[in-house]
Amino acid sequence: MSEALWNEVDRYFESQLLAPDAALEAALKASVAAGLPEIAVSPSQGKLLHLLAIVHGAVRILEIGTLGGYSGIWLARALPAAGLLVTLELNPHHAATARSNFARAGLTDRVEQHVGPALETLTRFEAERIAPFDLTFIDADKPNNLPYVQAALALSHPGALIVVDNVVREGAVVSANPDAASAAVRRMTEWIGREPRLSATVIQTVGSKGHDGFLVARVQEL
Ligand code: SAH
Ligand code: DHB
Ligand code: MG
Repeated sequence: MSEALWNEVDRYFESQLLAPDAALEAALKASVAAGLPEIAVSPSQGKLLHLLAIVHGAVRILEIGTLGGYSGIWLARALPAAGLLVTLELNPHHAATARSNFARAGLTDRVEQHVGPALETLTRFEAERIAPFDLTFIDADKPNNLPYVQAALALSHPGALIVVDNVVREGAVVSANPDAASAAVRRMTEWIGREPRLSATVIQTVGSKGHDGFLVARVQEL
């Protein structure tokens, strides 16, 4: 199996199952033009996040790692009119690009952006006892994955979903000498495995984003 074939398979299913979408395409184009890294979720992955949010009936969604707002548009579009996507981003240029991409998609009213180190924002949310989230998508600096999951758990109610991107890393997660991001994925995974309030699984993926995977965890009623 080659990456070219993975790409072709993604393109095939996307051509049949995902309608052409001007706002999503414009968001990617504007992100490239603004010099953002091309590391957003793929269209198929974005639609999976969108469907998970809808199936779950999510009304409050937390995203850690906005980039240009591509995954955020998919998530925010799953919300009812009174719903809210709260999305956290360190880089002000990424956040400004996302702001205009959300606006073009007509989602300004459903999106709240916070610019700064996500751990600081999350600590503030906990101190403020803000309303809990139904779904959290973690996709920022990988070394902080464990504290992000811990914060997401503190900000979730029973039944909530937590999804973490990029947990397989072309298999580096099982390497004898894992890099910093992979070591962090292992710390996070092993903590989740011992945490009775979370029930979790990982699905490996191949496609236009190479060989990677999502962790999906449900917050349990104890
Ligand atoms: N979820 C996006 C991609 C996010 S890429 C999508 O699929 O469309 C990761 C983002 O996390 C980058 O924009 C990066 O600037 C941001 N980031 C890195 N460190 C961060 C931190 N400490 N706090 C908040 N965001 C951070
Ligand atoms: C990178 C980050 C991501 O969130 C992703 O999905 C792919 C790549 C990166 O930092 O290279
Ligand atoms: Mg990612």
